[in-house]
Amino acid sequence: MHKEVIQRQYDEVIAKHYDVDPQDVIQRTIAASLRQLDDLDLLKAGLPPLRVLDLGVGTGLFLERLIQSTDRDVVPSGLDISKQMVEIARERIPEIATAVDDAANFEIHFAGQAFGMICTHFVTGFVPMQTLAPKIWDHLEPGGYWSFVGGTSRGYPALQRIAKSRVLQALFNRRGVSAEGNLLTPEDEQEVKRRFEDGGFESEITETFEPELKFEHFDGFMEFAYHGGWLTPFVEELGLQRAGWLTRQFLNTLVFPVSDHHSIVIAVARKPR
Ligand SMILES: C[S@@+](CC[C@H](N)C(=O)[O-])C[C@H]1O[C@@H](n2cnc3c(N)ncnc32)[C@H](O)[C@@H]1O
Repeated sequence: MHKEVIQRQYDEVIAKHYDVDPQDVIQRTIAASLRQLDDLDLLKAGLPPLRVLDLGVGTGLFLERLIQSTDRDVVPSGLDISKQMVEIARERIPEIATAVDDAANFEIHFAGQAFGMICTHFVTGFVPMQTLAPKIWDHLEPGGYWSFVGGTSRGYPALQRIAKSRVLQALFNRRGVSAEGNLLTPEDEQEVKRRFEDGGFESEITETFEPELKFEHFDGFMEFAYHGGWLTPFVEELGLQRAGWLTRQFLNTLVFPVSDHHSIVIAVARKPR
């Protein structure tokens, strides 16, 4: 997936809807990620200020909750490919230092800076872990942490089945569409651990979160999948955003309601001292 396409989708379609979080998946993963940081005693008052860089910072939801969750001083920075997402993050966290660029170029913007924590939350479907790992290493202090949240290719099994069904392929005259939309997601928790270790990191905590998803009808699916950003490339590949009344009726009769689940790895790794 071309990065210009992703940038346009976030700028023009997703940014103004992102925080709605229709099935509460983002807020629940933020809570789980913060719980991991708390378990590692990173949120204790009295520790030195935590310099954090969030790659693919989005609208700043995680950094805002991090700042609210600790008495420790947090010095926030964020980078994102979408100017619109970054603008929302800046309104939310006025003190944040930001850059708009591809995460694969983050070292250009933060040259010579070292962070206590670098986050990649739902961005490694766009920029693979193996590209980011050496750059994260170079910009972490010794003993610094990598907070990871990312979908795996085991997500959306029901939608995957539907995407491959003859009915859908006939309706949209397509073959081989995938509900992951060519994203570069790891396969599972084991792959995430392996990528950490290949990069020289120590894997501290990993867990897999599989929230249930319920799509009662086409419009509810589109709120989550298209405007919410979870499957925007897949929706555009099929042209579902332009579906007329008849197609929507057809899908509501033949496909929905759908029960499914996502598969999200939430993890923390550490650069050895
Ligand atoms: C699913 S959102 C996650 C936002 C935020 N991290 C969160 O967890 O709520 C993915 C974010 O990654 C950004 N993104 C996509 N491709 C990117 C890239 N190549 N470099 C930097 N950011 C990218 C998008 O603009 C979007 O803000």
